[in-house]
Amino acid sequence: MTVHFIGAGPGAPDLLTLRGRDLIAGSPVCLYAGSLIPVAVLDHCPPGARIVNTAPLELDQIMAEIAAAHAAGHDVARLHSGDLSVWSAMGEQLRRLRALDIPFTITPGVPAFAAAAAALEAELTLPALAQSLVLTRTPGRASTMPPAESLANFAVTGATLAIHLSVHNLAQVVADLTPAYGADCPVAVVWRASWPDQRIVRATLDTIEQAIAGSMERTALILVGRVLAAQDFAESSLYAPGYDRRFRPQDATSRFGGAAE
Ligand SMILES: C[S@@+](CC[C@H](N)C(=O)[O-])C[C@H]1O[C@@H](n2cnc3c(N)ncnc32)[C@H](O)[C@@H]1O
Repeated sequence: MTVHFIGAGPGAPDLLTLRGRDLIAGSPVCLYAGSLIPVAVLDHCPPGARIVNTAPLELDQIMAEIAAAHAAGHDVARLHSGDLSVWSAMGEQLRRLRALDIPFTITPGVPAFAAAAAALEAELTLPALAQSLVLTRTPGRASTMPPAESLANFAVTGATLAIHLSVHNLAQVVADLTPAYGADCPVAVVWRASWPDQRIVRATLDTIEQAIAGSMERTALILVGRVLAAQDFAESSLYAPGYDRRFRPQDATSRFGGAAE
C-alpha cells in the first residue's frame, strides 16, 4: 500500500501529468483537496473508488482515512492543486506518514504561477531585466510570515514576483512594492488560470486597485515585474550567432572541442 501525492495542476484537467492520471486510475481511494481540483480529474478514479473531499477535514481525520486504506491494503491518490512543493500542506502529511512507516510517492504538477505566465504569454525571466522569480504570499489569518520575507525586502532585488493567496491584500501589496518598483511597474492579476472562467487584468502598481474593481474571487495570482511589459530586452546569448557553446561549437579552436556533429 502506498500513498501517492499528486500535483493535480492549476485547473484545466488536461494539465495533469500522465503519471498522475495513471496513479489516480490505479488507486482505490482518492483524497482530494477541495474545489481547486477539477471534477474531470476525479473521473480518472477507478469504478467504485472511495473519493473524499478533504477540504472540511482536520489533519487527524485525513490521517484516519489513510490509516484505514493502509489497513485494507488500498493505495491512496492524494491530490493537491498545482504542484506539491508550495502551499500544499504536504509537509505535515509526509511527517506523519514517515512516523507511521507508511510508504509514499510524490508526483509533481503544473503550478499556478506557470499557468498564469502561460495565460499572460509571458516569460518571467528576461535577459538583464529579471533573472529570478520569487514565489511568495502575504500574511494570512492562519499564516504569519517569517520576518525577513517581507514584500519590501523582496522588492529590493527587482525580481519578478508571483504573489499567491493575496489578492484580498492588494492595497498592502501595492503600498509595499511601489517604493522599489515604481508606480509604473507592470502588474497582472490572473484569476483561475487555465479554468474556463479564467480572467486577466493588466495594469500598473498605480492603477491595479482601480482596474480590478474589488473583484471578490480569491483564486488569483498577482504577478509583478518589468518583464510583464518589456519589449526591448536583449536576446539571450544561447541562440546568438557566434556564441561558442557545447552544442554549437564555433570552429576547430572552440573550447568545446571542434565542430558539432
Ligand atoms: C493553497 S495555494 C496552492 C498553490 C499550488 N500548490 C500551486 O502549485 O500553485 C492557492 C493559491 O494559489 C494560487 N492559485 C492556485 N490555482 C490558481 C489558478 N488556477 N489561477 C490563479 N491562481 C491560482 C492562488 O493565489 C491561490 O490563492
